[in-house]
Amino acid sequence: MFPGPRMVLHRSLPQSPLMALAVSALAVIACCGDAWGQAGAQVGAQAAPPPALQPAISGVLDAQGAEDQAIANSLAAMLRAGRTVISNNQGKINDPTLGDKGLDGKSVLADAIAIYTKATGIAPSQIDPTSRMGRLQRAQMDAIVEVMDANQGVLNAQGSGFKGFIPAVFGRLVNEAFSRRAAGEAEMKVTAPVDLVRNRRALPDKWEAEVINAKFLKADWPKGQAFSATSDLRGHPVFRIAVPEYYAASCLTCHGQTKGTLDITGYPREGGAEGDLGGVISIVLAH
Ligand code: HEC
Repeated sequence: MFPGPRMVLHRSLPQSPLMALAVSALAVIACCGDAWGQAGAQVGAQAAPPPALQPAISGVLDAQGAEDQAIANSLAAMLRAGRTVISNNQGKINDPTLGDKGLDGKSVLADAIAIYTKATGIAPSQIDPTSRMGRLQRAQMDAIVEVMDANQGVLNAQGSGFKGFIPAVFGRLVNEAFSRRAAGEAEMKVTAPVDLVRNRRALPDKWEAEVINAKFLKADWPKGQAFSATSDLRGHPVFRIAVPEYYAASCLTCHGQTKGTLDITGYPREGGAEGDLGGVISIVLAH
């Protein structure tokens, strides 16, 4: 057993849009036809049903646990949707002949909402904006708009090709903006096994490192299955969830072979292989 925090179950009974998200958003792990989405799709093909659909292991998932799960799933789904939009537009972003790419905050958010809605079966507009989930989702959508609008100068620079604006960078900036907007209520980041971490800000904390080492990197951990628990963070009780992500073929131009050689972004390649654990979406919700 994972030491310390009590297990919270990945079980839910969808009755409302919010509860349906507890189930459906986890299926987003296996969605979306782009580089980042394919990483999940391949997992999905081999994987057991999403954790939310699996029977309870033990104990009871109370109302708070179900709500936490649903919110976390929604946040993960929107992050993935946003990264997919950037991935789908990577060619355009890198095109030195183009000026205005048309990727302002409003249009990227609209595309992300469409992908999120298709993946989860629930439109953000169906979620009560005054609810905890609604407020956090708005903070996240505002973060997407903020990041895109703040990067128009970089994105629209004519004459430069690769600009370093890739899904991982977009995701980090959005998670940082979200965590600032949701301060005291929620935090979100993408981390990775420590030997794979490129950006120091992505380094796993103790809880994340333990989940990665004692769960996700174990050969018998069901591929794609998230881990959640109640825990303490800086003296406060919190709900935490970690969602594993795996390398797809498209990730390997940067994260694959030959280990140590520099990729287009200037980082040394990790020597990763398709299907390896590449990263972890980590979400904290205050209790
Ligand atoms: C164009 C090269 C490139 C491709 C392709 C790419 N990445 Fe990355 N990745 C990076 C860079 C650069 C960073 C560091 C971003 C930053 O500054 O936060 C990064 C960061 C990450 C992180 C965050 C942890 C860290 O190391 O900072 C994860 C997880 C990750 N990538 C996984 C993937 C996966 C999964 C794919 C394929 C779906 C992928 N990457 C495709 C270049 C790439």
